[in-house]
Amino acid sequence: MREESAPWPEWREFVEDKSTLQEYEGDPEFLAIKKQIDEEYGEEKLRRSWLKTCAELEELTEEIKEKGSQIIPIIDMADVRRGCVAIKDVAEIRRVGCFVVRNVIEQCEMDRLYRDLKNYLSINKGRYTAWPQDSPSIFNLYNTPTQNALRIHPNQLQLMRWINGLWNYPNDDEEASPQPLLYADAVRVRPAKQTFLGLGPHIDAGSLCRWGDPAYRKVYHEIFAGNSENHDIFDMGKRKDANQALYLGGAHSTVMRAFQGWTAISKTAPREGTILLYPNVKAAISYVMLRPFFKPPSDKSKISDASQWTYDPSSSWFPGTFKPQSQLLSPTSHPHLRLKECLIHVPPIEPGDTVWWHTDMCHAVDAEHVGNMDASVAYIAATPNTPINKAYMQHQYDRMVVGHPPQDFVSNGVDESGFEEFQGFEGNPDIFKSLMGY
Ligand SMILES: [Fe+2]
Repeated sequence: MREESAPWPEWREFVEDKSTLQEYEGDPEFLAIKKQIDEEYGEEKLRRSWLKTCAELEELTEEIKEKGSQIIPIIDMADVRRGCVAIKDVAEIRRVGCFVVRNVIEQCEMDRLYRDLKNYLSINKGRYTAWPQDSPSIFNLYNTPTQNALRIHPNQLQLMRWINGLWNYPNDDEEASPQPLLYADAVRVRPAKQTFLGLGPHIDAGSLCRWGDPAYRKVYHEIFAGNSENHDIFDMGKRKDANQALYLGGAHSTVMRAFQGWTAISKTAPREGTILLYPNVKAAISYVMLRPFFKPPSDKSKISDASQWTYDPSSSWFPGTFKPQSQLLSPTSHPHLRLKECLIHVPPIEPGDTVWWHTDMCHAVDAEHVGNMDASVAYIAATPNTPINKAYMQHQYDRMVVGHPPQDFVSNGVDESGFEEFQGFEGNPDIFKSLMGY
């Protein structure tokens, strides 16, 4: 369960009302995609997975309610370094789909890097943008000395490779491997007491493209085929070809991140500007993929009974799915996920610890920050080597080496090369080059 006494934030609910439906019906692609899947698989198969998935979610809810944040596995960097993470921990990490790694970077080093970051932000003030506008905390900066140092720290690189290796790679495929690439993302310094409702429950890596892109849809074949229990959330052979950027939108990363992650630059804790995770991928993503095909019973008291839902491929409504945005979720639109009980805070995190969550995991940014200090993180993901990722990386290198923002962030990033104390890839040009696909 979420941290006791934490109120459910006023995040948006996705409701099938007249105005929303108009929005969907104005775009024929939603219905066309739904019809394709209906024709390919049909009611019987989708319903079979629907019933199994909802039953599994019920069991999961009980487990998550009982264990709370303790369900999130915690391992130590020393064990990754020595190659001796316990087999049972690896199994649990793969089952739950998220985890914490302690002591990735030494605390004294983090203190120095945090001072450097704050100094960089201050001496360059006015030259960059941040989000949200009224209380900036996510800085549209991609090339600060602090970010770059954190990205190429030897522990971080070893950890990324280990995390990428949690996925299954086809033996005969030389194009995909756990060899880490470096996806440059933003940095956050969130002031104490700042309320933030901008990132409610969502899943990144695209939204409608999960159903709309033929290669991406194949990732979920077993779910649509009535065999949701066979869905492999770690199948890189299929996933590497998925087009996450089929529809344009600032929320979509072009690259496939095996696990999204952040590296804590300062302390964070439940209700103190941290992240909330839904500690399951397999059943939750199965539910999200099936949900647009089923209509709730009109009798609200029967909503939790999955057998009372009607198969309806004739509606263009995809709850919480908007082309330019990540896949959005809410208790009303996705009731069987029981988000109010199952979306849990990660445990207290120290500077130098890292948090990781599977690319298909539902997560949200803490709406509250009741603590007394900044909550600061660098977004650093585990990005495997795939053809799509590699192509993006080379482009990213060409842009960043001259100080420009990476392609996914051109709309808000700026040329950082003229900034005070800008270093770019100086000092480690070869590491950056090889981490970006050259
Ligand atoms: Fe996210």
